[in-house]
Amino acid sequence: MSNENLNTCCEKIKSWLKNWCCCSSCSTNDENLTQNEKLKAWVKEWADWCEPNAVYWCNGSEEENQSLLDQMVASGMAVKLNEQKRPNSYYFQSDSSDVSRVEDRTFICSKTQIEAGPTNNWKDPVEMKAILRNLYKGCMKGRTMYVIPFSMGPLGSNIAHIGVELSDSPYVAVSMRIMTRMGKSALDVLGNGNFVKCIHSIGAPLAVGQKDSKWPCNKEKYITHFPEDKEIWSYGSGYGGNALLGKKCFALRIASTMAREDGWLAEHMLILGITNPQGVKKYIVAAFPSACGKTNLAMLVPTIQGWKVECVGDDIAWMKFGEDGRLYAINPEAGFFGVAPLTSMKSNPNAMLSCTKNSLFTNVALTPDNDIWWEGMTDEKPAQLTSWTGETWTPDSEKPAAHPNSRFTAPAKQCPVIDKNWENPRGVPISAILFGGRRPSTVPLIHQAFNWNHGTFLGSIVSSETTAASVGTVGIVRRDPFAMLPFCGYNMGDYFKHWLNIGKKTDQDKLPKIFYVNWFRKDANGKFLWPGFGENSRVLKWICERIDGTAKANETAIGYVPEKDALDLSGLAGFENNSALDELLKVDKEQWLKEIELIKEHYTKFGDRLPEELKTELNNLESRLNK
Ligand code: OXD
Ligand code: MN
Repeated sequence: MSNENLNTCCEKIKSWLKNWCCCSSCSTNDENLTQNEKLKAWVKEWADWCEPNAVYWCNGSEEENQSLLDQMVASGMAVKLNEQKRPNSYYFQSDSSDVSRVEDRTFICSKTQIEAGPTNNWKDPVEMKAILRNLYKGCMKGRTMYVIPFSMGPLGSNIAHIGVELSDSPYVAVSMRIMTRMGKSALDVLGNGNFVKCIHSIGAPLAVGQKDSKWPCNKEKYITHFPEDKEIWSYGSGYGGNALLGKKCFALRIASTMAREDGWLAEHMLILGITNPQGVKKYIVAAFPSACGKTNLAMLVPTIQGWKVECVGDDIAWMKFGEDGRLYAINPEAGFFGVAPLTSMKSNPNAMLSCTKNSLFTNVALTPDNDIWWEGMTDEKPAQLTSWTGETWTPDSEKPAAHPNSRFTAPAKQCPVIDKNWENPRGVPISAILFGGRRPSTVPLIHQAFNWNHGTFLGSIVSSETTAASVGTVGIVRRDPFAMLPFCGYNMGDYFKHWLNIGKKTDQDKLPKIFYVNWFRKDANGKFLWPGFGENSRVLKWICERIDGTAKANETAIGYVPEKDALDLSGLAGFENNSALDELLKVDKEQWLKEIELIKEHYTKFGDRLPEELKTELNNLESRLNK
């Protein structure tokens, strides 16, 4: 028999086998999607181990997405929302034990503990893989394994990277389609290349005839990262950053290790473009801890005349040096996974308008006519709702209707102020970097670093009150360096050093200027001193003018603070006399000397990995304060 005939014969046998055999290698649809043999072998290895009923390769098409959503509606996992009010949108309620990122179950499994550093949970990679292999054995029985190829970043951009997630959750597959460039197009870019391997299981195999639950998951959870292998293994949770592995696990934890190796930055930062009345545009990135208003700032509506803000991304920035020596940023994501409560047409109209269609909603409340609602969405509360736990809710109910960490998942391209360069493969040139957090006292509304090393120092001391984005107590101040505490994939001391090194790679005047903002300072009665939201454009204006060298500032011990008349407060009620402004811009020596003690305590954690340059910055700050 000729080779050609033999091949035809084999193909016939294979297709005949697929008609009656239900083993995972026969019920797979990988034909024509990829020729990448490494990828195929890896998928087969995991399918053999996890024993799904079927393996489904996602191509990312409209039809495929609709079919997955229809299947979830049929199984009771999803509710189709009112087509008139919210076209092509779906509602999900998670298990009450699976509502946010689980930082205490998140591990960086580098070869040695010191590589993971003092801020990460660590376990030996060989031991962790053994534990997980055990859990993964047969974990997908009765389910489909979805093969989800995705690009973090615009397809083909040289700042972007490809990953493939294996998951037994159709919710993950449809969410990844919004949050990343997912499907055949990512496989085409991958070709025969290497990819970040992401394995995810909800850890809930189904026995024959067993009825599925609405949100299957496992009480035991592991979110693990293997930086040396560039692999992510996640088990037990189906929620957000625990399960959509392109986001926090890849784009921050694994990418931060890649960035360190290759001289770039993977950061927990929004990216916005701001244009002044003369039409001059600047791009700014900003790192704030989770749920501190990154999405609000990223798409803010300026209150000052003639200024415009456009959004490139609301959560993550990857920055590399361009040929001109400037840092260029891309948003590796393609969607928003935003905290829903308190988002409204007043606080963030652009976020509200982004999720009017083609969106997913998780753990919000459901209205009687199948639309969604959450606390703060409207001034008036609806008379009756179904809460995120599936109970009847009325305004008298004691518990909130939506979970505090409930989310909308919406395509970024639907944002009315999406920047025209948001998919530019080269990225956008960055002029300023902002750090910030929720601090009721001590930290002024805005101050500017003296230089890159001082700015790195400011990043290293970011602190904020905790929120509901992660499991744990809400409202205590914790240090969250660079807003990366839960997301840095290696020793945070080495990460500080990496930032200092980045500052040496180009001319100082090509580096972005660094600022620190605090929208959350309160007066003695606990009332916020600054109105925030669109009014933050006034602070952005000062930042732009500082970059241009035109805004006036006082040199204080902690950095440059605006001179009182340098902030544009025209038309802003409550600032007619200067007392609120004095308080907002105050650098109180006693408070800062106390802060120094807290910073020293924070720094001791890093031992000999704390860069000398940062010790110098701290000493300099102390002596400036004592001058
Ligand atoms: C997020 C987070 O979900 O930072 O973006 O927790
Ligand atoms: Mn985030």
